[in-house]
Amino acid sequence: MSRKVKIAPSLLSADFLHLAQELRATEEAGADMLHIDVMDGHFVPNITIGPFIVEAIRKATALPLDVHLMIEEPERYLRDFVSAGADTLTVHLEACTHLHRTVSWIRESGLKAGVSLNPATPLWSLDSILPDIDLVLLMTVNPGFGGQGFIQGSLEKIKALRKMLLERELPVLLEVDGGVKPENAKAIAQAGADILVMGSAFYTSGDYQALMRTLRETLSDV
Ligand code: DX5
Ligand code: ZN
Repeated sequence: MSRKVKIAPSLLSADFLHLAQELRATEEAGADMLHIDVMDGHFVPNITIGPFIVEAIRKATALPLDVHLMIEEPERYLRDFVSAGADTLTVHLEACTHLHRTVSWIRESGLKAGVSLNPATPLWSLDSILPDIDLVLLMTVNPGFGGQGFIQGSLEKIKALRKMLLERELPVLLEVDGGVKPENAKAIAQAGADILVMGSAFYTSGDYQALMRTLRETLSDV
C-alpha cells in the first residue's frame, strides 16, 4: 500500500509583494501545509519573517502553518508564534540548550513540536528526544537560503532516520527541507520522508497546480 507523502511549499521563495495571492494559489494547488522559514541573522546569516507576519498569514489561509525556527534561543519567541497561529513549531537542536524543556512547552501549548538537524549534525543526537517530539526536520542544505542544491549524502541520513523510527516504533514524522525538486522528490520519499518542503522549485514553477499534479503522480507509488 502506498503512503501519502505531503508537500509543504516554503513561502521563502514566494512573491512577497503579492502574498495574499500567493497564499490563495498555494492553497488552490492542493498543498498540504505551508512551510514558513523564520531566520534571525544569528543562527543563520539571513533575516526573514517574524510572528507579526505569521499572524497575518494565519488570517489569510486555512493551510496548516509549519513554522521552522532558524533562530538562537527560540524559547524566547515561542509564545509569540503560538499566539500568531502556528500549528507546528520546529526548533533547531543546535540552537537549544534545554531542548526537552522547549519541546515540552510547545506540546503543552497544543502544537506539534519538531526538532531540526543541520546537515552536519549526526542522527544519534536525537536519541533521547525522539519519544518526546512529533516531527524531525532534516536539513538537506545548510539553512539560510532557498535555491541551494540538495546535499547528496542526505539520502542515506533519511534512510537511517526512517530505520531508527521503525525500529523504535515511534510515530514521528520525517520532514525533508532543502533542494527538493520534482526530479529528486521520489528518491527522497522512497528513502523515508513523510513531508517534502519545496521552496524555489514550487514558487518558480510558473504553474503551481500543474506542479502539484506532477508531484502527486510521481509520488503515487511510493
Ligand atoms: C532553508 C529553508 C528552506 C528553504 C528551502 O534554510 O529552511 O525551507 O525555503 O528552499 P529550497 O526548496 O529552494 O531549497
Ligand atoms: Zn525551512
